Amino acid sequence: MKSNALVQKLASSLIIVHLAMTRAVQGGPNSTLAQRPNIVIFIADDLGIGDVGCFGNDTIRTPNIDRIARDGAKLTHNLAAEAICTPSRSALMTGRYPIRSGMATNYPVRIIMHTSAPSGLPSNETTIAEAAKIMGYDTALIGKWHLGVHCGMFDLFCHHPLRQGFDYYYGTPLTNLRDFGGHRKQNTYGIAFPFMYRILVSMVICGFVLSCLLWKYDVCSKMLSLFLLIVLVIPPAYVYISHSNLTLINSMIMRNYDIVEQPIDFGHVTQNLINEGVNFLEREKQADKPFLLVMSWLQVHTVLHASERFQGKSRHGPYGDNVEEMDWSVGEIMNALKRLGLLDNTLVYFTSDNGGHLEEREGEHQGGGWNGIFRGGKSQGGQDGGIRMPTVAMWKGHIEPKTVITVPTSHMDIMPTLLGLWDQPLPNDRVLDGKNIYPLLTGQDDTPPHRFMFHYCGADIHSARYVPDTEGDVFKVYYATPNWVAGRYTCSSFVCFCGGTSVIRHATPLLYNIGRDPAEVRPLDTTDPDNQRIVELVNEAVKVHQQSVETVPPQLTPLNQLPLPCLQHCCNFPYCNCRDTTQRSISK
Ligand SMILES: *[C@@H]1O[C@H](CO)[C@@H](O)[C@H](O)[C@H]1NC(C)=O
Repeated sequence: MKSNALVQKLASSLIIVHLAMTRAVQGGPNSTLAQRPNIVIFIADDLGIGDVGCFGNDTIRTPNIDRIARDGAKLTHNLAAEAICTPSRSALMTGRYPIRSGMATNYPVRIIMHTSAPSGLPSNETTIAEAAKIMGYDTALIGKWHLGVHCGMFDLFCHHPLRQGFDYYYGTPLTNLRDFGGHRKQNTYGIAFPFMYRILVSMVICGFVLSCLLWKYDVCSKMLSLFLLIVLVIPPAYVYISHSNLTLINSMIMRNYDIVEQPIDFGHVTQNLINEGVNFLEREKQADKPFLLVMSWLQVHTVLHASERFQGKSRHGPYGDNVEEMDWSVGEIMNALKRLGLLDNTLVYFTSDNGGHLEEREGEHQGGGWNGIFRGGKSQGGQDGGIRMPTVAMWKGHIEPKTVITVPTSHMDIMPTLLGLWDQPLPNDRVLDGKNIYPLLTGQDDTPPHRFMFHYCGADIHSARYVPDTEGDVFKVYYATPNWVAGRYTCSSFVCFCGGTSVIRHATPLLYNIGRDPAEVRPLDTTDPDNQRIVELVNEAVKVHQQSVETVPPQLTPLNQLPLPCLQHCCNFPYCNCRDTTQRSISK
C-alpha cells in the first residue's frame, strides 16, 4: 500500500515536471499561440438530454442553458464515458476512460458510496484542475465531487479536491442520496440491494443464535462461544448499520478540509453553492489571473430538493422543479460573470454526468430524468440514453452563436482541448482518450475527432461506436444490452447492473446506424457482407483499445468501499451536527 502511494506520487510529480518543462521550452502561457481564457464548467447530476429546452423539451423551462446554446454551440452527440457518476466524472476530470484509472469495476457498486471509504481517483492521475494550475490558473470546485476523499489512515485526504488541483473547495465530497431527504427519505442500499440486506440480517441472527446455543449447552468453552459471537455477528451487523445510516455518515458539506454543515440543509444548499461560486468570481475579478471554476450541482439527483420558490412551479412534479431550479442556478453564475465583465473571456461548458434515471419514481411522478428519443438511461453503460449528454458551450469571439455540432464528441475531450488552447503537448507517459475539439467548436475543421468510441458498463465494453468518413453515418455495435423489462427501457432492479442476469450478451453483435436511426429501432442485418465488415472493424478496434489498457490498482472493490470508522468525518463530535453560519450571513 505504502510503496504504491509512493509510486503514485512519483508519477504525478513526473508529469507535472514534464508539463512545467515543456511550458518553459515552448513559452507556455507567454507563447503567442497559447490562450488562457477563464473556464467555467457546469456539471448537472443525472440530467437527461430530453429534459432541456434547446434539446427539444417544450414543457420544461431551461432558458439559461438554452441561452448558452444560442450564444454558442449545442453538442448533440456528446458522450459521457460511463452512465454513472463516479466513473463518468473521473473521465471528465482526466480525459481518460475510467478503466485506465482503476475507476471502473465489475462489482455491483460502481460509485463511491461512503466518504470514509478508502477509494477514489488515484493521485497519479492529472486532472484538468492540476493542468490548469500549471498554466497559472486559480481553480475552484463548488458542489459535488464524488471521486473519493482518503487513501487510508496514513494518507488522509489523498483523493480530496484540494489534492487534485483545486485551490478552493466547497461542497459535498460524495453525492446527493435519497437517504438524505426529509419526508421522501429512503435507504439507497435497501432499494438497490434488498437481497443483500436479507442476507446480512440472517447472518446476524444465525450467528447470535448459534453462539448462544453453544454457550448454553456448553458445547465448547465459553471463550470460544464469545469469540464466535464477535466474529459472526459484528461484521455483518457493522455493514448493515453503516449502510442503513448513510445520512449520518455521508450527508455533509465541506469547505476545503473542514466540515461546515452536517447534515446537508437542502432548503439552502443550492443558494449556498451559488453564493460560493459568485464569491469566487468576485475574488477572481480582483486577482489578475485566469481561473477554472467547476460548478457541480447536486441537482437533479434524488432526493429531489427544490428550494421553496421552485416547489410546485414546473409541469413535471418535483423532478421538473429541480431541473428548473438547476437551470436558474446556471443563470445566476452566468449573470455574475456578465456583471463582473468576465464573460467575454470565458469558455463556458455545460453538461450532465449521465442520463436520466428511468427506474426512479417520486410517488405519482417520475423521479428521474427523460432521455428523449434515446434508448435506456443512467447506469446502462452502452445505451445512448445513459451517456448522450445535454451539452452546450460558449466562448465569445471563438464559437459562433447557434453552432450545432452533430459529430460524436466526449467529456474526455475537455482535457486535450484545454491542453491545445494552452499550446501544451499531450502527455507522453499516458494515453488520453479525448481529442482536441477546439477546431470543431470554432468551425475551423468539422472532421469528426473520434473514429472509435468504447462504451463501458463497469469494466466491460457493452458497445462501441464507429464514425466512418461518410457524413451522417455513425455505427454502433452492441456486445451486451440490458435485460430490460418487456416493453420498456428500464431494469426490474433499482438500477441496471452490468453483468449477471441484468445483461443479455450477444454472441453475434447487434449493429445500428445511430447516425440515421438515433432511437435504434432498425437493427442492421449483420449477415450482409458490408455490415459484417463494419462489425469486424469495430471488433478489431476494441481489441486494440483493450491492449492499450494497463492493469492498475482497482479502486472500487467491496473492501475499498467499506466505510472505515477511523476515516469518518464528523463535525461537533459526538453530535455530528453543525450549521454553516457564514453562509447564512451571505445569503441574508
Ligand atoms: C420534458 O421533460 C419532462 C421531464 O423530464 C418529460 O416528462 C417530458 O416528456 C419532456 N418533454 C419532451 C417533449 O421531451
